[in-house]
Amino acid sequence: MFNSLNAQPVDKIMALMQMYREDPRDNKIDLGVGVYKNAQGVTPVMRAVKAAEKVLWDIESTKSYTGLAGDPAYSNALSGLVLGDAKDNTRLSMAAQPGGTGAIHQAVELIKMANPGATIWLSAPTWPNHPSIIKHLGMTMAEYRYFDNATRAVDFDGMIEDLKGVKAGDAVLLHGCCHNPTGANLNFEQWKEVAALLEAKGAIPFIDIAYQGFGDGLEEDVAGVRLIAQAVPEVMIAASCSKNFGIYRERTGLLMTLSANADQAGITQQNLTHLNRQNFSFPPDHGARLVTMILEDDGLKADWMAELEEVRLGMLSLRQQLADELRSRTNSDRFGFIAEHRGMFSRLGATPEQVEKMRVDYGIYMVGDSRLNIAGLNKDTVPVLAEAIVAAGV
Ligand code: LMR
Repeated sequence: MFNSLNAQPVDKIMALMQMYREDPRDNKIDLGVGVYKNAQGVTPVMRAVKAAEKVLWDIESTKSYTGLAGDPAYSNALSGLVLGDAKDNTRLSMAAQPGGTGAIHQAVELIKMANPGATIWLSAPTWPNHPSIIKHLGMTMAEYRYFDNATRAVDFDGMIEDLKGVKAGDAVLLHGCCHNPTGANLNFEQWKEVAALLEAKGAIPFIDIAYQGFGDGLEEDVAGVRLIAQAVPEVMIAASCSKNFGIYRERTGLLMTLSANADQAGITQQNLTHLNRQNFSFPPDHGARLVTMILEDDGLKADWMAELEEVRLGMLSLRQQLADELRSRTNSDRFGFIAEHRGMFSRLGATPEQVEKMRVDYGIYMVGDSRLNIAGLNKDTVPVLAEAIVAAGV
């Protein structure tokens, strides 16, 4: 049987991680996979997570199953963090998922169950796993223009023009904040325009929010998500706690849907629970429990927010340092966009050959489309990267 299997394409981010591991150079710099690293190159366990784990070790009395949709306390706590005042419990259905990827996968399955003929629209470019999951599930996809390679900012006119082509019942995947891979984000006025257009078209916003707190702040980063949740009757939101709680390997995600009314929300909930049962029965609980404990305890929450803010400000300062360094080396402002982008990533606009030259000559690893992970830098490696960018002729 297995001899009928075809070889699978390698995920380019995973392949890059492997190449980096195999590079023997001591001075290599990993700007590849989207994992936060501090100035010492360590991905730390956050203080509040450690504290919650200690308490959990003491108080946890069973590891028996939770519910098929996970622990409702977790869904309530995390949906509160994402949706805030825009949380409408009457329309909300939720199911815990194994990470943000799990939530995206489940959302695509839900679209397939509800409307197999739907087209799922993706920003050009987007996180490579988006099209890969959609293709794997046999759904149709289309692209809308998003990033302007010349300005390294959002091509908003192109985006709106392309989204005018969506049909009722199509889903439009939007990055809630900190666009991956470009770092270029919609402003609030642009979110309003997108919300109005999708509402008028009868299309469903499908929001991937994996970096809340990494851009402009915990509240600021979800302003667009909340606006959409209030403006559009049916919405899907895939949230991840991997990055903002630093619990990558615990696989902690949540799929939220807003239905048009409470009756429909009940049926949607049954479908979300059914999908969990078919795919893995019960979602992982350890990370979800830690997130719940942190969000429900004022002290832990304050400490988590303070550490997250340190992470965010650290990335902003590295962005500024890199933009300044490039300004002085090139005597121009053409890399000013690095300080304007938000989140972990920026798309530099280098060619694959230039990216390869930086890897070979300097041991700098970034994704082939020239996405670089700002959090892979520290103040000593910023000048090395700036030198490499100039030497590669970017
Ligand atoms: C990334 O974009 O690098 C991260 O989201 C990690 C991943 O799974 O690709």
